[in-house]
Amino acid sequence: MSMKACWLAAALLLASAAQAATIKLSCAAQGQELEMCKAGAEAWSKKTGHSVVVVPTPADATERLALYQRVLQDRSGAIDVLQLDVVWPGLLGNHLLDLKPHSRGVEQSHFGGVVANNTVAGRLVAMPWFMDAGLLYYRRDLLAKYELKVPRTWDELALAARKVQEGERAAGHKALWGYVWQGRAYEGLTCNVLEWVVSHGGGSFVDQGGRITVRNPQAIEALERAARLIGDVSPREVLDFGEEEARAAFQAGNAVFMRNWPYAWSLAQGKDSPVKGKIGVTVLPKSGDRGGRYAATLGGQQLAVARHSPNAALAADLVMYLTSAEVQKERAIQGSLNPTLWPLYADRDILKANPFMGELFGVLAFAVGRPATVTGAQYGEVSAAIWTTTREVLSGRSTAAAAVAKLENELLRLGRNGRWD
Ligand code: GLC
Repeated sequence: MSMKACWLAAALLLASAAQAATIKLSCAAQGQELEMCKAGAEAWSKKTGHSVVVVPTPADATERLALYQRVLQDRSGAIDVLQLDVVWPGLLGNHLLDLKPHSRGVEQSHFGGVVANNTVAGRLVAMPWFMDAGLLYYRRDLLAKYELKVPRTWDELALAARKVQEGERAAGHKALWGYVWQGRAYEGLTCNVLEWVVSHGGGSFVDQGGRITVRNPQAIEALERAARLIGDVSPREVLDFGEEEARAAFQAGNAVFMRNWPYAWSLAQGKDSPVKGKIGVTVLPKSGDRGGRYAATLGGQQLAVARHSPNAALAADLVMYLTSAEVQKERAIQGSLNPTLWPLYADRDILKANPFMGELFGVLAFAVGRPATVTGAQYGEVSAAIWTTTREVLSGRSTAAAAVAKLENELLRLGRNGRWD
């Protein structure tokens, strides 16, 4: 190469290095999330020549929210792309970039409800990434051994859990419990409580019109029934459980039933899992009374760009890539994360890896939202009031009737004139 050509090559290299940016991408770390997030980021880097630093965040949704609130308020630029819980767009929307100019209308092929959820004051502040809905996992082998049917009501679940627990413990499996779920003081407990209350016909604390509905006999019954699980078929430790603690117990073979999100499927069915091939997934139970209905809390994650990101356009490009059909398909197969794109529910590879995505499509499609949109900026306090008062019942410090009265008061205090509308 001539001297001149050498200089030219060096200059070109320098110029492209100067243009290559580094995007800071935050991901959650539940199950395989972090690993899959890194793989997606690397693929985008290869395509674009820009680099991505993956910033891990706490697995606990409530702790992650606190971190984001600090970072966004400080405008520190510490994170460009944020993984957002479905209940956060209303809380964080002001700090997030409008993605409409970057999306080229692609959001129209995602679930409309989630797109509406992510649209704050007409701005598309986040792209849907995956959907969650609360599911009941069960041990097929143990139900068959004790000749039990898959439970359809909460009482059937408690009965089946007790029967297997007693039988297996008598046979030497002392660590076995009937039912594990999420009872720690955080967002995950609010998701569990919503399922109990809705499945008893007790509403969703605040209705879509902004009226506070929590003080009703069905909500009281739901909380009483949940409290009775503890020490009976659920260990006291569930009061410290998040999703991963529940999964650890179930996957190790120490629980008959588990409430969890879809991500747990791929791991419990993983090649090293002791319960591989022995489990099933179904809808969570309802109350046996009239008015009861099957209920799954709607969860899920989005990707958003910090409004003050110095690399906003590039960050938006990364978001569009990670939420694309190609990446969602990969994540559905590897991590059993439910896509947010309609056409992927007809994809054979996805349905083969996750039969429940086809079988329980109705459950997913009709999942119940938390009162996040209606309570907007106050949702954080609303949810904290829900999990705090619930824990008083679960730990035996309050009756369910006193707790819903207290929760009603708290919500009245938080809402404008006792309501949000
Ligand atoms: C999952 C859900 C999210 C929910 C959280 C609670 O991450 O996707 O919506 O708030 O669990 O722990």
